[in-house]
Amino acid sequence: MKGHNNNNEEKKNHIKPVPRDLAVFTGNANPRLAETICGHLGISLGRALVGRFPEGEINIQIQDNIRGKDLFIIQPTCSPTNDNLMELLLLIDAARRASADRITAVVPYYGYARQDRKVRPRVPISAKLVANLIVSAGADRLLTMDLHSGQIQGFFDIPVDHIYSIRAFGTHLNRHGVRNAVVVSPDVGGIKMARAYSKMLDCPLAIIDKRRDSDTQTKVMNVIGSVKGKNVVMVDDLISTGGSMAEAAHALKEEGAKEIIAVVVHPVLAGNAVEKIMNSEIERLIVSDSIPIPDRKRCSKIEVISVAPLLGDVIRRIHQHKSVSSLFAKEAVEA
Ligand code: R5P
Repeated sequence: MKGHNNNNEEKKNHIKPVPRDLAVFTGNANPRLAETICGHLGISLGRALVGRFPEGEINIQIQDNIRGKDLFIIQPTCSPTNDNLMELLLLIDAARRASADRITAVVPYYGYARQDRKVRPRVPISAKLVANLIVSAGADRLLTMDLHSGQIQGFFDIPVDHIYSIRAFGTHLNRHGVRNAVVVSPDVGGIKMARAYSKMLDCPLAIIDKRRDSDTQTKVMNVIGSVKGKNVVMVDDLISTGGSMAEAAHALKEEGAKEIIAVVVHPVLAGNAVEKIMNSEIERLIVSDSIPIPDRKRCSKIEVISVAPLLGDVIRRIHQHKSVSSLFAKEAVEA
């Protein structure tokens, strides 16, 4: 009986009060996205200095009182990845030391995701190390979107909300009417995502059998499924060098495909990716604003749709302890 009482006492001491005040902060990774999310939530972005010391180290100070706040730090870990990751870690550390009640790292694009297992001897599992860093810094939760591989969720021993942007892209595609379409996955790894799109657009599915020779070189081996005479919606989680998409588009044209639209969540757009897309048989590349596209990389083929309303809805639900999955009931990419 005594033990039972002690337990209750212990539990009481460990129960956190329901967080009442919502606050949103950001580093330098994607301030426009953070501003748009705040606009959607009807709140102002929290004030924080995220600068540099003269020699280049990151200098952080949160300038609002955040004691007892339910804090969301929006920071995709896109390029410059190491700087953006470090800003995120330092913001979390600052928030923890300033007595925020709960800290959610909002990482719409999770960098270092591609090394998520040992595919060769003596390589790191970078995605796991980054998870360890975020948790050690003091995050209580993670909110992320269209992870390169779903199993990265398991690298965190804190709650993870992994959401999909398919709804935002679906609304856009339906508005512009995609007729006589086939959804194509540019590689076997993207099949679950492609299947979810083919279900949503109610059209068939095809897959590219791609071989990766190096980080920048890919080769299409086969197109599995029929694309002849069809308009293609090619979907992927990210576009880096653009090689996979450009190669795939060429193979699809050779198989008799008509218009090719590429839908890619995270526009990493490394090196001369934009040039490759411009010179490819892709007519339009639709991407999200999870990663900002610098002016010098903007081009006539790229259309950006905002995932800020979606992220804002999810943040509101997390804050209000409401179900997040019910927002995505029809869109189970992992199903
Ligand atoms: C691969 O698994 C990914 O989903 C992308 O297809 C790939 O990372 C894109 O890379 P790139 O644009 O450099 O071909």
